[in-house]
Amino acid sequence: MNDLMSFGLHRVWKQEFVNLIDIDNRSVLLDLASGSGDIIKLIRKNYDCLCIGYDANINMIKQAQKKIDFDNVFFVNGLAEKIPFKKECFDAVTVSFGLRNFSDIQQSLKEIKRVLKKGRKFYCLEFSHVNNVFLNKIFKIYSHIIPFYGKVFLNNEEAYSYLVESIKRFPNQIELTKKLIKTGFKNIEVIDILDGIASIHISES
Ligand SMILES: C[S@@+](CC[C@H](N)C(=O)[O-])C[C@H]1O[C@@H](n2cnc3c(N)ncnc32)[C@H](O)[C@@H]1O
Repeated sequence: MNDLMSFGLHRVWKQEFVNLIDIDNRSVLLDLASGSGDIIKLIRKNYDCLCIGYDANINMIKQAQKKIDFDNVFFVNGLAEKIPFKKECFDAVTVSFGLRNFSDIQQSLKEIKRVLKKGRKFYCLEFSHVNNVFLNKIFKIYSHIIPFYGKVFLNNEEAYSYLVESIKRFPNQIELTKKLIKTGFKNIEVIDILDGIASIHISES
């Protein structure tokens, strides 16, 4: 469905996202809302680092475990609002298309900051706000088609109506930056993808 809805572009965006992560083979990385493991798979293509995938849904973790068969990759089941790791133990924390789904975004950001080592970075890839008025209108029209895809291909219109609603409700680039600042992150960098259909926020702990 991700391939269908984004015309395969989500793969390019995820690769672009992973290319920005500042790690090396000795790093320890936490991928929150790891889903079926796309981000960890891309990271491990380039680095031998220790990766922890963390997701609220055990079935997503099972999918990821089927797909990923590397040493030094572990999966943990739990909520981003209560991360079961000690403070300052990760060299990088990533979230790709996950933050939007967290029930308490501010609490999750607080937890991310707590587990990140000082001076290290949190990388977030998420749907965002299209800047150009005309493109924004086209994106809104396209959004109406997405639940129809869900109905036809997965017999699940509801899940994809939720997706569209969650994108609408999610903070835009500036609002998310404010939340990051409120949490205590600094040196925040925002990179728009396709004029803001998605955006990458990189923030330092
Ligand atoms: C759209 S998937 C993204 C998966 C993957 N990161 C990717 O980019 O393909 C969203 C994931 O967020 C997880 N999730 C939702 N709420 C969560 C929470 N509060 N804590 C941790 N994971 C959560 C879901 O279980 C799901 O696997």
